[in-house]
This record gives sequence, C-alpha cells and structure tokens, in this order.
Amino acid sequence: MSVTSDTGPVTLTPSGTGPVRYDPFEVGAMADPYPVYERLREEAPLYRHAQGDFWVLSRFDDVFRATRDYTNFSSAKGLTFIKDEMKILGLAPTFIMMDPPKHTALRRLISKGFTPDRVSAMEPLIRAFVRERADQVAERCAAGETPNIVSEYTSPLPTFVLAELLGVPPEDRARFDPWSTAITSGSMEEESLGNAVQAVAGLFGYFIQLLERRRVDPGDDMLSALRSAEVDGQRLSNWDLLGFCFVFIAGGNDTTNHMLANALVRLAQHPEQRAYLVAHPERIGPAVDEFLRYDAPVQGLSRTLTAPMELYGQTLPENAKVHLLYASANRDPRQYGERAHELDVTRDVQRHMSFTQGPHFCIGAHIARMMGRIGLEELLRRFPNYQLDLGGAVRTNSAFVRGYEQLPFAAG
Ligand code: HEM
Repeated sequence: MSVTSDTGPVTLTPSGTGPVRYDPFEVGAMADPYPVYERLREEAPLYRHAQGDFWVLSRFDDVFRATRDYTNFSSAKGLTFIKDEMKILGLAPTFIMMDPPKHTALRRLISKGFTPDRVSAMEPLIRAFVRERADQVAERCAAGETPNIVSEYTSPLPTFVLAELLGVPPEDRARFDPWSTAITSGSMEEESLGNAVQAVAGLFGYFIQLLERRRVDPGDDMLSALRSAEVDGQRLSNWDLLGFCFVFIAGGNDTTNHMLANALVRLAQHPEQRAYLVAHPERIGPAVDEFLRYDAPVQGLSRTLTAPMELYGQTLPENAKVHLLYASANRDPRQYGERAHELDVTRDVQRHMSFTQGPHFCIGAHIARMMGRIGLEELLRRFPNYQLDLGGAVRTNSAFVRGYEQLPFAAG
C-alpha cells in the first residue's frame, strides 16, 4: 500500500529562510504548523518565544522526559504559557493542575470510574447513538443537503458519552458543547478570554445545581459515586468535585471531536488508506493511534520550572514556562523514523504524546480510543466513499488545539 505525505500549505513561516519563528497565536497558525515544528526540532530544539516569554521543546525525547519529570516540570501553575492563567480563568487548581503526591490520591479515586470493564460496557450504547446519528446524516444527504459532519456527528459523540458518564440529564446536554469550545479555544485576545471566563462560570454554576440534585437523589453515575467518595478519610470538597467536572468537560469533549474530524479529513486526503480501512475494518482500532500521532488534537501544553535548569547550554530560570509541543514530538524522525511525516494507517504506533505521558497521562484515553474506533467504523461502513468540501471547512481558532468547526460532508 502506498502512502502519501502531508503537503498542505505553509502559513506560519516560510521554511528554510531566516531564523525559524514559532508563534501559535498567528492567524492561520494551525492550518499547517508541521513545517515549523520540523524546523524547531532541527534548528532550535530549545526555542525562546521572547514576546510571550516562554520556552518551547519540540523533540520527542525532550517532551517525553519533561512530562515524566514532574518534580522539575510542574503542572501546578497552569497548563499554558499564558501568564496568570489561573487568575484569569478564576480557577482553583483541579487535579490536572496538581503535582504528585496530591494529584495521585485524587487521580486514583477518579480512575475507579474508568476501569476497562466499565468503559467496554458502554460500547453498545455508543454504537447505537452513533448509528442513529449516521442515519440522520444519511437522511440529510439524501435530501440534497451537505451537513456539517462536525456538528452532526463528531462533536455530539463525546458530548453524549461524557454526559452519560457524569449522569447529566438528557435535557441539559446541549449546553455542554459551547462551554467546552469556549474553554479550549484559548487565545490571547480579550474576547476569547472573556468567553472562556463566562464558560467556566456557566459550567461551575450548572454542576453546583447538579451536585445538589445528586445529593438528594443519587444515581448510578460517576458524579454520585464521587460525592460519597473519601480521600484520607475525608469527603471531596465541592471545589474538588467541580474541578473534576471541569477537567472532564474541557478535556474530553473537543479533543475527541477533533480526533475524529482530523481523521476524516486525513482519510479524505488519502483515499488509498481509506479504502484499506474500509476493506479491513478490524484495523480501524489500531489506526486510531496513528491518527492521534499524526494530528495531535492537543498540539502542546506547558509546564512551569520549579528550579533553574540547564537545557541546550542555556540556563532557564525558576518559574520559566516551558511549552511541550506534543504534535511535534509525534512527528520526530528520531522516534518514528524517516517516514514520521507520512500518514500510515498500518503503522504500529507503540507510543505517542497525544495523551501526554507521566502522571497526567489522559485518564480518558481508553474511552477516547473507543469513541474513535466506533465513530470511524460506523461512518466508513455507512459512507465508504464520503466526500468533504475542504474549501468550505472552518478550522477551530486556537493556539492549543487542532481541529474543525465545520466540515461540509457528502455521502459520496
Ligand atoms: C482524543 C481525545 C483526547 C485527547 C487527545 C486527550 C488529551 C489529553 C492530554 C494531552 C492530557 C494531559 C494534559 C497535560 O499535558 O497535562 C489529558 C488529560 C486528561 N484527560 Fe484527556 N484527552 C482526550 C479524551 C479524554 C476524555 C474522553 C476524557 C474523559 C472522559 C478525558 C479526561 C482527561 C482527564 C480527566 C485528564 C487529567 C488527567 C490527570 O491530570 O491525571 N480525556 N488528556
């Protein structure tokens, strides 16, 4: 089977001329950031973003090591390079923004809700939901429309699954997506930050009500279970519970949506690889990790240095923000060989950085992979020759995530 390389337009920096410039806030930065990542890895593996006052690591080994070295690379001061991120969003630290050992106890508790058995038990429910959605897409295509596959398919799937996990009643579900989008589309622009602040407030307000309802009327959901759980003989505070909901909604919704949308675009661009998966549906599960490697939905997140550190002959001060470019690490030829820049759905991906590594390894990875597998299985079964109008596609405007808001879809 042949593979084709990704040859999208370069919109960040002309490659090969002048010093490499990385600016995730530049308009259009996410259209194709990979040529810049390549130059960072080769020419500036420790890059300083002077204006934003942060540093960037882009090679697999560096990023991998940093995510595991939580003593030096702390999560406790936020996950972006935006200064005062915690103050701006009005956030108290949630467990994703804690270091071990504090992080460990909370994580252990929450992991109980994510046993492979519990996740596998959701498969029939997820498949039924996805089939219903695919039916609706088919009906709209048959009526001559070109539905937006993001709003009709890839985005409702994680929204549904998260709501099921948390025990959110069906009538409240449509409220999730806008909050999640606003929280994850971080940019330095005031309007975007304002939306994120409002979304955090909306989400917290909603879950305070839901927790109260669950106190009076507990259900068979994770929120009810967590309400009565104890760490070191103590109940979790409402603040911990809210933080937990926040991380789930913000961390699980758009990421999964982007994973699926990016995969659909790549398969449309690589018809021979799509034909391979249509003919070998049992390979879709393993291919999900190749899609994740190839287009990390979360392109990078930051850590804060707890002490000065020598890196590539330079001394970074204590409290320096270091941005870890997961998406660049995922395409490092030192890790994946010469064909790292090529999509290959038959590749055996042993590990990648899209779920990070170390203590914060994505707790939802198992269910995310399952959503990826079922979402693609059902779509490819139903629409083996689907087409996307990439000219009409609208990308998510974000410095941290890569995905789409709109992808016009035709049954083919
Ligand atoms: C393809 C989909 C997903 C991607 C790419 C993704 C990515 C990530 C990444 C990169 C982190 C680590 C953040 C860091 O660097 O500190 C993370 C953590 C986390 N993710 Fe996911 N995620 C996905 C789906 C989900 C889902 C579906 C859920 C919930 C059901 C979820 C819940 C979490 C939680 C709770 C954490 C925090 C873990 C901790 O701090 O110990 N994620 N995820």
